[in-house]
Amino acid sequence: MKKTIKKNLKNLKIAGNYRIRRKRDSGNSHIFVYKNKNYLSFASNDYLSLSDDKRIINSAKKSLDKYGFGTSSSPLISGYTKSHFKLEEEISKFLGQEKTLLFSTGYQANMGVIKSLVNRKDNIFADQLNHASLIDGSILSRANFKRYKHSDIKNLENLISNSKSLANNLIISDSLFSMDGDLANLKKLKTLSKKSNSLLLIDEAHALGVFGKSGEGLISEHGLNNEDNIFLTGTFGKSVGTYGAFFSGNSDYVEYVMQKARSYIYSTSIPVNAVEATRKSLKIIAKESWRREKLFSLIQYFKKNIKKINYECLDSDSQIQVIIIGKSIDAINVSEELFKKGIYLPAIRPPTVEEGKSRLRVSLTVNHEESDIDYLINILDTISRNLVQSKND
Ligand SMILES: Cc1ncc(COP(=O)(O)O)c(C=O)c1O
Repeated sequence: MKKTIKKNLKNLKIAGNYRIRRKRDSGNSHIFVYKNKNYLSFASNDYLSLSDDKRIINSAKKSLDKYGFGTSSSPLISGYTKSHFKLEEEISKFLGQEKTLLFSTGYQANMGVIKSLVNRKDNIFADQLNHASLIDGSILSRANFKRYKHSDIKNLENLISNSKSLANNLIISDSLFSMDGDLANLKKLKTLSKKSNSLLLIDEAHALGVFGKSGEGLISEHGLNNEDNIFLTGTFGKSVGTYGAFFSGNSDYVEYVMQKARSYIYSTSIPVNAVEATRKSLKIIAKESWRREKLFSLIQYFKKNIKKINYECLDSDSQIQVIIIGKSIDAINVSEELFKKGIYLPAIRPPTVEEGKSRLRVSLTVNHEESDIDYLINILDTISRNLVQSKND
């Protein structure tokens, strides 16, 4: 066994797929402090730059004095407080959904929700590029698990019509795909889910806070809230800038998930300071639309200027912009060159993305400025010219 592990580790290194962790000293959204040096970071999911907002930090501090740190138990024993209840109510109102259930992480939410909604007699139809937690939840459920080609509604329709008609169907998709930056066609998914009598679960992890008039996400933006067969999960670990996650939708289903989801029942609840921080953050998100306006202006600026240099970019209108490099080793090399120039942008490699499609996932945040984007693009341009030069030498 040990020999196999050693061999596997060696092979990961040879393929350029070995992961390392850089110990960040501080900094969050656009600055990454490492060994006392500030790096310009494009690697944070703190899209609205709220994780170090003083108002949010103060809310967390106040609750620490009252409740202490840990909640000491799962929500169904004694780990559920008035704060947890208020946050659930506030999220339901914010999203226009009947009921909400908090989970400790988005990963747990997806695992628990999917396994509660379907069983081995049922069918799951999932987008090929869904997040790992949606894939793992689908496998854990033991339902008949089929993946449709990315955003290919025709392919999804075919899979549904060729499946057992008496089983329950669950369609699952991210609303904003985390490694490609593109958006699911929620309107078509809704229509097909109704037509095929399927439930539809949408993971709003990356859309929450950024899309929707007040940051409610893409389900709200498309007016799909309060549909009896449509549910969503979301995490607070990205735009909200805090920690924890939730599941929202029709109250009977949410109540049922609370009774059934093992990742909910058998896990300690979110610390109250994180709950209070989230309550504050959601209020700021709803009120401060200038954050979304600035982010979308940066997105347009990036899209316009990245075209001027010689890299293949995926088509994305979101804060996640993707530069395809190809081989893992090449992606690491570009990332290391950027690091030498003060930019932190780690390479995304298999198994997170397909073999041969390693990439730089540029994550834009509110604290970035146009000059930061100029700097990144200039350095990328120099790297690409040097590569061409060294090939010609
Ligand atoms: C689409 C998606 N869903 C779920 C999760 C998991 O959320 P959390 O980090 O709260 O476990 C993530 C985070 O990586 C994600 O990108």
